[in-house]
Amino acid sequence: MNDVFAAAPFVVGKSEPVAADARIPAEEALCPVISHEWVNPEYKHLVIDASAKALAVTPGQFFNILCPSPDAGELWLRRPQSVYRIDRPAGRIEFLYKCVGRGTRGLATVKPGDLLNIVGPLGIGFHFEPAWRNIVVLGRGVGLATLAPISQLAAEHGAGVTAILSARSSDLVMAADLFGAVGSVIPVLDSDRSSDVGNVESILRGLIAARCADAFFTCGSNRLMQLMKRVAKEQGIPGQVAMEQVMACGLGPCYVCVRTFEVNGRKELRRVCIEGPVFDLQEAVGW
Ligand SMILES: Cc1cc2nc3c(=O)[nH]c(=O)nc-3n(C[C@H](O)[C@H](O)[C@H](O)COP(=O)(O)OP(=O)(O)OC[C@H]3O[C@@H](n4cnc5c(N)ncnc54)[C@H](O)[C@@H]3O)c2cc1C
Ligand code: FES
Repeated sequence: MNDVFAAAPFVVGKSEPVAADARIPAEEALCPVISHEWVNPEYKHLVIDASAKALAVTPGQFFNILCPSPDAGELWLRRPQSVYRIDRPAGRIEFLYKCVGRGTRGLATVKPGDLLNIVGPLGIGFHFEPAWRNIVVLGRGVGLATLAPISQLAAEHGAGVTAILSARSSDLVMAADLFGAVGSVIPVLDSDRSSDVGNVESILRGLIAARCADAFFTCGSNRLMQLMKRVAKEQGIPGQVAMEQVMACGLGPCYVCVRTFEVNGRKELRRVCIEGPVFDLQEAVGW
């Protein structure tokens, strides 16, 4: 019988490796959990063994994760999580996520040795021009997890990176180790008011004056995105923003994730899951 309606999930470590099919870049895979630790009271770091297709993920792309239910009820819909780190030599991918609701509370119960069901890699990630010698990353909250693998992109291109990492307090500054290994980190905090837009704008303008800002990348805060967009427009600096939008299918057909963009003065509706989640900074309207 040749009527195959859907592929069975790829089981990492068990399924026969299949030849890469460029027409189908994403798959459902069952991935052994290697480690899963709290990094602070709000965030967990999850490391899984990944399939060859999952390892082809690029910074800014995401996986739609089937989270176990944290209670007796059923948990509807997968939850999107962007890749935090890609370790191709070890065959592993990593996530850093904040526990905010039932999905992520359920995900937090997964233990080393369990199989995690993921679909991906999905969406369009960040792009990097070889001509960029120094980039600036500005993010906040869960956006820092999404921006983190840009540290890998910068290292691959031999480019310098300055990461301005915004958080409520110093214990919530994420990805400082990854950015610190390849560039410099400027934490800006609510606790000492250094995260105020005026101060972040001074830092950005200082980096531009020092010729350390060939491109801008941002995620996780509307006010910081608006700031970066304004300064980038004024200075003619290219920029990209990763949008976080509530999703259902993560694949394009349901239109749950539609947002408004502005292209050449005209409003356009786009699906964040399939036309993003990374967009041109000047086309993003904010939220
Ligand atoms: C492309 C993409 C990549 C993401 N990457 C990461 C990541 O690397 N790390 C991380 O911690 N989170 C990430 N998120 C957010 C993550 O998907 C949500 O936090 C998660 O789905 C919440 O599920 P829940 O059931 O725990 O919470 P829910 O009960 O669904 O929601 C709890 C709270 O979280 C908010 N929330 C729900 N979905 C989202 C969402 N998509 N974006 C922002 N807030 C949301 C809700 O408004 C509510 O306030 C990403 C989201 C997208 C769209
Ligand atoms: S989440 Fe279904 S179309 Fe984007």
